[in-house]
Amino acid sequence: MTTSSTHLIGLLLGAEEDWPTAFEAIMRRVGPVAVGDVEHRYTTERLTIEPFELTDPVRPQLVIDRLAHWYYHPREWLKKASLVNGTYLLNSPFTFQSMEKHSAYCAMIRLGLKVPRTVLVPYKNPIDNVRWAYTSAKYNKPFDLAELAAPLGYPLYMKPFDGGAWRGVSRIDNEVGLHRAYDESGEMLMHLQATVDYDKFARALSIGPETMVMDFRPERPMHERYAVSHDFLSESAGNQAVAVSRIVNAFFGWEFNSAEMLVRGDEVYPIDYANACPDVAVTSLHYYFPWAIKALARWSVYCVTTGRRQRVDLQTERYFRVADDPALDYHAKLAAYQQIADEHFETDRYWQWCDEHLPHLDEQVLDWVTSTDFDRLLRDTVRATYPPHEQDRFLDHFHGLLDLWVVDEAARLRG
Ligand SMILES: Nc1ncnc2c1ncn2[C@@H]1O[C@H](COP(=O)(O)OP(=O)(O)O)[C@@H](O)[C@H]1O
Ligand SMILES: [Mg+2]
Repeated sequence: MTTSSTHLIGLLLGAEEDWPTAFEAIMRRVGPVAVGDVEHRYTTERLTIEPFELTDPVRPQLVIDRLAHWYYHPREWLKKASLVNGTYLLNSPFTFQSMEKHSAYCAMIRLGLKVPRTVLVPYKNPIDNVRWAYTSAKYNKPFDLAELAAPLGYPLYMKPFDGGAWRGVSRIDNEVGLHRAYDESGEMLMHLQATVDYDKFARALSIGPETMVMDFRPERPMHERYAVSHDFLSESAGNQAVAVSRIVNAFFGWEFNSAEMLVRGDEVYPIDYANACPDVAVTSLHYYFPWAIKALARWSVYCVTTGRRQRVDLQTERYFRVADDPALDYHAKLAAYQQIADEHFETDRYWQWCDEHLPHLDEQVLDWVTSTDFDRLLRDTVRATYPPHEQDRFLDHFHGLLDLWVVDEAARLRG
């Protein structure tokens, strides 16, 4: 006898409309999925922010969160949902609070990855706290900023330890600039970081065990930052970019994160590895947007249908044993870490399961991207994003890139 099981996926959203609408549309097309004699169905719901008792039930089985990075109330609700109710969350809310560059740098340095030399300097203007005056007078050791910076060389980067969206980032050419930038840093806690001269800027978006490494051009305007280019890295650098992304995500329990690497030849230097609320706007990702939404749907469906449990604890010791093995060089360590990460993400099982149970998903997404529904979504997003006199130009621009995806994807599916 066939039984039926319905899985509710909750969305904790802020200002975004484009990808949630896309995700909801794909999720409507995904089910029902028959596994054994159970027919699985999927529904989504946009969650609201409300008072909650710590023992309250939580209805969604899985939550995709875009708020906890900014607001404490949803963050604390997620922790309760994870610990009390066993709700599956794409990013661990516990390591979330360490989801700043600094912790990711520290973990990557411990694993022997190629983080550029980085120094943390004390606040220029300490946060206002009555006890600070006494503590500062007694313990805050004076330091020579220029002396600290000298070994890093110029130009160097000064940026907040927990930065994002280029807030407070400056490139510094000399000592005068260094003092000026530090004076302006105010109440931000800053890193100084050696500059990496790079050939390519790789931005990797990861969703569960899926990673898309994209050719990113940070100097361009937003709509041109992601180039559509498939072989922009050497095979070795491309593999490292995927490996490092998956390793850091598995290490911290993050499943929806973007990572930035500077690539010179075959060398991959991670510089920004903790973006809990990664940009997935159709007006940024364009060609890569259908993949991103599909991956989000695919991984969510896999997690709720197979009953995957979320780990709250980390497996740092397993990684550190590899890091401390003198018989392994950098590439051998990367391979060993990746094995642990793939075990964590059930990577092989995931792809087998998707082949078996979601063979229709690719066609459904292709069909949806060519539908009038998708066209409406794109038009609405362009209208909401750009001033009237630029809308036609941008609509053409994004239509062109998405048409290109449709052609490529149709060719891929027809083999
Ligand atoms: N060590 C570095 N070497 C070269 N460029 C860097 C370095 N660190 C940062 N940048 C440049 O500054 C930009 C912003 O720095 P990033 O660490 O990514 O901060 P944010 O979290 O604000 O994005 C990067 O996209 C890159 O262009
Ligand atoms: Mg960045």
